[in-house]
Amino acid sequence: MHNILVVNSSISGENGQSNQLINNFVKALPATVAVTSLDLNQSTLTHLSMPEIGAWMTPEADRSNEQQQLAAVSDSMIAQVKAADVILIGVPMYNFGVPSQLKAWFDRIARAGVTFKYTDKGPVGLLEDKPVVFFLTRGGMYKDLPHDTQTPYLVNFFNFIGLKNLHFIFAEGLNMGADSAQAALKAAHAAIADLTAELAA
Ligand SMILES: Cc1cc2nc3c(=O)[nH]c(=O)nc-3n(C[C@H](O)[C@H](O)[C@H](O)COP(=O)(O)O)c2cc1C
Repeated sequence: MHNILVVNSSISGENGQSNQLINNFVKALPATVAVTSLDLNQSTLTHLSMPEIGAWMTPEADRSNEQQQLAAVSDSMIAQVKAADVILIGVPMYNFGVPSQLKAWFDRIARAGVTFKYTDKGPVGLLEDKPVVFFLTRGGMYKDLPHDTQTPYLVNFFNFIGLKNLHFIFAEGLNMGADSAQAALKAAHAAIADLTAELAA
């Protein structure tokens, strides 16, 4: 493990539980690991628009100045994903889904002909597989229940672009009293210790 991409999406900054779990994960890694940080809460990433998709579809040599700038957003995010050998992603639950900031990033890294393609046998992911670790922080309890909309969505999305080595660290029941939060964070820290040891091996 040499290069890690950290994608934060909590709106709570350093108080965000997902941010804190990711920090714990990074601290458990050897100091030689290089960390690239993308804090989506600090970014000006907009909703995906048709002009941006139009820029992707226009051959590079034919792009206007505006299209070059639009395409550069997705280009640089996909380059970060490709350069990483492990990706850490903070996934708070906001209103039963992922933060819209994170969805906006997903919309930049799913790109036809670049990270996936369709064939007569269905879609094929084009990214080289690598471990992706999700830090799922939730006020209530959802894991393994039908109303956990996040986990199957993350599996579908990342498999679609070729990433299948997925790991999920849950901290649930964070808003269900101090005992519940403490137990959730203890379990998450234990899972982090196990996974950092496994990935470093
Ligand atoms: C806008 C907002 C919406 C939320 N919606 C949910 C929800 O649908 N289900 C839930 O269990 N917790 C919900 N919560 C609680 C968060 O999941 C919880 O605070 C968690 O710690 C968020 O992760 P973070 O601390 O990394 O931002 C919500 C919190 C906020 C701020």
